[in-house]
Amino acid sequence: MQNALAFSHQLLKEVIQPGEIAVDATMGNGHDTLFLAQLVGRSGQVYACDLQEQALANTRQRLTEANLLPRVTLLHCGHEELDRHLPEQKIKGAIFNLGYLPQSDKAMITLPETTIAALEILLDRLAYRGRIVIVCYYGHPGGQSELDEVRAFCQALPQKEYSVLNYQFVNQQNQPPLLFCIEKIAKSKF
Ligand SMILES: C[S@@+](CC[C@H](N)C(=O)[O-])C[C@H]1O[C@@H](n2cnc3c(N)ncnc32)[C@H](O)[C@@H]1O
Repeated sequence: MQNALAFSHQLLKEVIQPGEIAVDATMGNGHDTLFLAQLVGRSGQVYACDLQEQALANTRQRLTEANLLPRVTLLHCGHEELDRHLPEQKIKGAIFNLGYLPQSDKAMITLPETTIAALEILLDRLAYRGRIVIVCYYGHPGGQSELDEVRAFCQALPQKEYSVLNYQFVNQQNQPPLLFCIEKIAKSKF
């Protein structure tokens, strides 16, 4: 069985086609940004954001080395501000890695209010059959309450509009990350 991170990539790979728009809402060191850049191809675009300048620097370097920088718009902002930066087109896939960036400032954790605000922005812009994948690391202080709020948000989504999956290993120690995937199953007005 795949771990949550590997499964998050599979879920996005199944829906994102070349030429489409994708979002990395928690860029960090850019591993997911690079993956999304490969999926959207030359004619697509990835919008990736983070509050930490170091995240943008590390991701820029990673993309430059892979020759994929032109496919990505790097945004130095919080994901709760994404609506100011996203294009008019629908978004086919988005990813959140909730928690903090390993080997960096552990105080820079994602927070429930801003995470939910960002989810609302992205759900509004999500294409029919588009997916938002949320990988939750929750072993750190504040992580459990964020997980609880994200779970409650996902569970409250209307089932005629969204299918929501929860993927979790239930017999492992040390709180391995778990995953939610929201898929839009109703044609949107946007
Ligand atoms: C678990 S790390 C992401 C790891 C990343 N996916 C990677 O491939 O390295 C979480 C990231 O979210 C960022 N972050 C925290 N609050 C944020 C916010 N409001 N908007 C955007 N990014 C935020 C942190 O700075 C951190 O880099």
